[in-house]
Amino acid sequence: MRSWLFVPGDSERKLDKSLASQADVLILDLEDSVAPQNKPLARDMAAGFIADRRGETQALLYVRVNDLATGLTDDDLKAVVASRPDGIMLPKCNSGADVQQLSTRLRVLEAENGLPDGSIRIVPLITETATGVLSGASYRGASARLAGLTWGAEDLSAAIGARSTRDEAGRYTDVFRFARSVTILAASAAGVPAIDTVFVNFRDTEGMRRECLEAERDGFTGKMAIHPDQVAVINEAFTPSAEAVGQAKAVIAAFAQSGNAGVVAIDGQMYDVPHLRRAEGLLARARAAGVA
Ligand code: COA
Ligand code: MG
Repeated sequence: MRSWLFVPGDSERKLDKSLASQADVLILDLEDSVAPQNKPLARDMAAGFIADRRGETQALLYVRVNDLATGLTDDDLKAVVASRPDGIMLPKCNSGADVQQLSTRLRVLEAENGLPDGSIRIVPLITETATGVLSGASYRGASARLAGLTWGAEDLSAAIGARSTRDEAGRYTDVFRFARSVTILAASAAGVPAIDTVFVNFRDTEGMRRECLEAERDGFTGKMAIHPDQVAVINEAFTPSAEAVGQAKAVIAAFAQSGNAGVVAIDGQMYDVPHLRRAEGLLARARAAGVA
C-alpha cells in the first residue's frame, strides 16, 4: 500500500473526486478535517460511501475515527462498521494498549454486524502525543489487526509547544525527526509497514517528490496524501524500479544457486543474508505494486 489519500468525510465533492484517484487506500476522515458540528453528517456520509460506492474503486477504504480521549470514537465506529471498512486509522494513539482497546470494540461490533472476527484492520498514528512517541516498542504483538504504523508532526508540535516542525531550511527539527525514526523502528519491530506522514504544501511537487524519495530510502513503504495531485508522485516513488527489481531477483537467484550459502558474490560485490532479506522485501513490494 503505497499511497494513502485523506478525504474529508463530510465533503460530497471530495468523496466523489477520490474515486478517480489512483490511491491504494482512501482514508475517509472523521477527525481533524471535519468540524465538530459536522461529525454526525460525516459519519453517515462515510458509511454510505463505503456501502454504496466500493465497487467504483480498487482502493482499500479506511476510516479515520476521532481519538479515544474525545468520547466520539464509539459513535464513529457504530456508524461505520456495518458498512465494513477495510480498516480504521486511530489518531493520537498513545501505545499498543490503545490499539488493543480499539480492537476489543471492533470485535464486539464485528460480531453484532455478522462480520468475520478480526476482518477490520488498524493503522494507528503513533507520534501525535509525547507518550505515543515514547511508546514505540509497545506495538510489537499488540494486535493481529495491525496493518501498519504511521506518524504525524502537527499534533505533536501542538502537544509539546513547538512553534514549528521544521527549521529555516525546511528540514524537520530533532524532535520530529526522532518521531519519524521511532515510526520506522516501531513498525519494523512489530513486523508491519511504516507509512510516512503527509506533506502539507500540496502545490510543491518537487518538495513532495524529495520527501517521498527520502522516505523510501529510509524504510517507509508508503506515504499519506492530502490532495489527489500527490498520489501519482507517491506511487511512483514507492514502486520499485525495473532496475531494482532485476537486482533483487539476481541476489535471490544467486543465493538459490549457491544452495543457500550465507554469502555470495555478484559482479565483485559481496551479498550476505541482510541483502537477501532486503531483496525479498523489495520483490514483495514490487509484486504488490504489480511490477514483478
Ligand atoms: N480528496 C479528494 N478530492 C480532493 C481532495 C482530497 N483530499 N483535495 C482536493 N480535492 C479535489 C477538490 O475538491 C477539487 O475538485 P473540484 O475541482 O471538483 O472542486 C480538486 O480536487 C482540486 O482541488 P484544489 O482546488 O487544488 O484544492 P482545494 O483548495 O479544493 O483543497 C485542501 C485543498 C487542502 C482543503 C484539500 O486538498 C483537502 O481537503 N485535503 C484533505 C485534508 C485532510 O483530510 N486533512 C486531514 C489529514 S492531515
Ligand atoms: Mg491531526
